[in-house]
Amino acid sequence: MRRKLAAGNWKMNGTQAVLSELAALDTPSNIDTLICPPATLISRAAQMSGDVAIGGQDCHISKNGAHTGDTSAEMLADAGASYVITGHSERRTDHGESSATVAAKTKSVWDENLVAIVCIGETLAEREAGQTLAVVADQLLQSTPDGATGANTVIAYEPVWAIGTGLVPTLEQIAEVHDFMRAELAKRFGAETADAIRLLYGGSVKPTNASFIFATSNVDGALVGGASLKAADFNGIISELAAAE
Ligand code: PGA
Repeated sequence: MRRKLAAGNWKMNGTQAVLSELAALDTPSNIDTLICPPATLISRAAQMSGDVAIGGQDCHISKNGAHTGDTSAEMLADAGASYVITGHSERRTDHGESSATVAAKTKSVWDENLVAIVCIGETLAEREAGQTLAVVADQLLQSTPDGATGANTVIAYEPVWAIGTGLVPTLEQIAEVHDFMRAELAKRFGAETADAIRLLYGGSVKPTNASFIFATSNVDGALVGGASLKAADFNGIISELAAAE
């Protein structure tokens, strides 16, 4: 039985004042709740977050070394993180991260006994060209190293065109990709492992559309950007997930 996960990604938003939003989050006992704040806030957030898990938004491939401005998974773990997002589309676009890089980052997350949230998703041009499943398969398989388990890996399907745009795929489009990801994971890692890996949907999730998204086949939760910055909004999503079958 997969435990559902409501994950918030604050991206590059928030100085210390935003921690009051973290303190106001609900934590229903039947789901996991996670916030990934900017790296500068992880230590403080981890000290006050109670039942809300804290995660990093990215990490370097190496544990340490001459990499000015970067943060390693070891450092995130030391600061109190238990999850790290890898391969977010903004990292792939802004920093030119390939799936091979994402896989190496994912491995470095596992090396610290943290959970990696591996993000994949097609662009609008790729969807319109009918390449969605091919892109999803390629990113999924190339970004996830051998050794993935339900305990160390979460996959987030985030269509690039749905992130921060207010556009959301149809139920059928989400179900098609999530069912496909589960089948691809089964081919690669075996049915038992595939069945244990949580699959999140991400891209313009709001309290108002959460219930239809969470009713979709093989959706085990959400990775939420904008709507995770305000506790009132994220609590709406959390309660829809806690109530979902
Ligand atoms: P959004 O971002 O919820 O603001 O669309 C989602 C994400 O990038 O994880």
